[in-house]
Amino acid sequence: MKPELVTLHINGRTHTLALAPNVTLLHALRDLGYVDVKCGCEQGDCGACAVMLDDVAVNSCLVLAGQADGCQIVTAAGLGSVKQPHPLHEAFADSGAIQCGYCTPGFIIAAKALLDRTPHPTEAEIRDAISGNLCRCTGYGQIVEAVQIAAERIGESTNRRINESASL
Ligand code: FES
Ligand code: FES
Repeated sequence: MKPELVTLHINGRTHTLALAPNVTLLHALRDLGYVDVKCGCEQGDCGACAVMLDDVAVNSCLVLAGQADGCQIVTAAGLGSVKQPHPLHEAFADSGAIQCGYCTPGFIIAAKALLDRTPHPTEAEIRDAISGNLCRCTGYGQIVEAVQIAAERIGESTNRRINESASL
């Protein structure tokens, strides 16, 4: 198959590559070194490969790299940094929601998509949002707790910012 040029904007960096039309976004990302995007089932069943694609959570194994041409992609690692972790990163670590860690990036992306649309989710909404993600280690309880903690912390920091700007 003849390669085609694809431009991917990933975690704030731009990559232009020549790819065969059947290369999935999952493999393009991992080949570029974004190995926080995990390769699990490659059939859309486990959620380990989830990324934000133009602000929508998708399983990257089900997207061709060419379909993401020109799109903004954010991986779980791209949500924060070691110095400035995202509240979800911290909450997953704090609540023991990470054991082997293979599923974690996918859960963080699913949780990010949930909190973007529903900042104060119920437990049922959290469980529904992560229902496309599989974890073999944690039993899911700590993961649900991590999302609840992250939601509380994001809410507190938003309130703090609002109060600070009101007092200026
Ligand atoms: S690797 Fe994509 S959903 Fe499992
Ligand atoms: S922490 Fe091991 S699969 Fe989820």
